[in-house]
Amino acid sequence: MISALIPAAGSGERLGMGAKALLELNGRTLLERSIDAFLGIADEIIVALPEAHLTMPFKHARVVAGGTTRQTSVQNLLEAAQGDVVLIHDAARPFLPKAVIQRVLEGVATHGAATAALPMADTLVVEANEQWQSLLDRVHIRAIQTPQGFRRDLLLNAHHQAQLEQVAATDDAGLIARLGLPVALCLGDERLFKVTRAGDWALATAFAAVWDEG
Ligand code: C5P
Repeated sequence: MISALIPAAGSGERLGMGAKALLELNGRTLLERSIDAFLGIADEIIVALPEAHLTMPFKHARVVAGGTTRQTSVQNLLEAAQGDVVLIHDAARPFLPKAVIQRVLEGVATHGAATAALPMADTLVVEANEQWQSLLDRVHIRAIQTPQGFRRDLLLNAHHQAQLEQVAATDDAGLIARLGLPVALCLGDERLFKVTRAGDWALATAFAAVWDEG
């Protein structure tokens, strides 16, 4: 059984437009777009929302309360999940191709943990004092996206360890990797960009109509 877990309890501080997951793009919220991507793939879909929105009804998803950090929101989602496999996907990434979800599920089947990851197009350097310090070999660099998939027991244990050791992480695959366990890197997608700042919002607004036509 597969559970899709969607942390959507952020305040959208950097965007400054209120709860980001509940903003509409071409008539559908970021959150609805993420939920729809999992229809036909996940056996259950659970979303974590801010306290103020817990009574919001969804046709295809259950709601749990989010926490003060993304990590605690994911913990709440994990406690509510029943699947032996869990897929975690940030509502802040509204354009999610089903092919990426399938690739991540294949990675979970072989490695127990997997994440969408994207090769970089730009030249990448390490900076110090606003000067070019050294070049990174971009062939071996990946930008990590969501969805990320896990055997639920593995991720529960990783979160438990992180809590005990007071480790904070911006994603879940990082909590697995820090334990020395394998994380498969599956090809992500340019369209899976994260809506974080005003420029991302402008891009998402313009792109939504194109996505909806396709
Ligand atoms: O803040 P950031 O953009 O990294 O958040 C990534 C995802 O985690 C977003 O979908 C956001 O709604 C969610 N989140 C959450 N609970 C929090 C903070 C963020 O569910 N306390």
